Amino acid sequence: MARIICVANGKGGVNKTTTTVNLGYELAKKGFRVLFVDFDSQSDLSKYFTNMDSEFYIGDVLLDHKFDIQKAIYPAIIKGDEMPNLFIIPGRTRDVMTKLDMDMVSLQRREQRLEMQLKKVADDYDFVICDTPPTANTLVMNAVNAADEFIIPTEFKSNSLDGIDTVLDHIQEVKFCEEDEINFLVVPSKIDKRAKKSLNYGIEYCAERFPENTAKTTIWQRTDFTDAEFRSLPCSVANPASEAAMYYKNLANEVINNVA
Ligand SMILES: Nc1ncnc2c1ncn2[C@@H]1O[C@H](COP(=O)(O)OP(=O)(O)O)[C@@H](O)[C@H]1O
Ligand SMILES: [Mg+2]
Repeated sequence: MARIICVANGKGGVNKTTTTVNLGYELAKKGFRVLFVDFDSQSDLSKYFTNMDSEFYIGDVLLDHKFDIQKAIYPAIIKGDEMPNLFIIPGRTRDVMTKLDMDMVSLQRREQRLEMQLKKVADDYDFVICDTPPTANTLVMNAVNAADEFIIPTEFKSNSLDGIDTVLDHIQEVKFCEEDEINFLVVPSKIDKRAKKSLNYGIEYCAERFPENTAKTTIWQRTDFTDAEFRSLPCSVANPASEAAMYYKNLANEVINNVA
């Protein structure tokens, strides 16, 4: 039975896609079967792992309960080759995703559709990881409902730290639950070691507000990430010896051991 993880933060540019890409890749490298779901309206995840010409996408999965979800699951492509253990349900770019969101508003069980579709394939994977946009639309509600765990990347900036509460409030609304019932991990990301003030503020804030839920791994700011993104590659493919690659190997171990 797959562990279903939603990567979320109410703020954009905080590392959601980078975390999805690199965490998923490291888990697959370790032999776990991983399925990505791309909900982001920039379809960044799909740019990493598909040729952007897939016949089916997440909309097909959500709009019709008779649609066979297997048809929308594609092997992830890295440097032109299929990566073992790594699969993706692609997204589409902005206009299509906006229309999909609008089309779903009038449908029955519009927020539970991903959950219901994933049940059909949950035994085929160890992890399903959903990348989300920084909004609270119907598509994100599907990812939130389906997920049993949340990874919340955050910079040590006030709007990004506030974005954690936005996500936690949203999860409570959608799942009709209390914060202490949510299995979540806050991952400090893009952290600049030299910016001492915000570093200390962020460390203290997380230790006080999320003492049990802050990752031990910090994703430090490094140009390796922008270089890897430029080539649409996971860090440990773009530069296997880099520290950046090591961060996500560590995070993968933490996630593997974080069994609720
Ligand atoms: N640790 C890091 N250090 C420096 N830049 C980073 C780091 N992680 C991500 N980035 C860059 O920050 C930008 C935003 O990251 P992204 O994962 O796309 O954010 P989001 O999905 O939350 O909008 C990207 O250009 C990415 O390459
Ligand atoms: Mg993104």
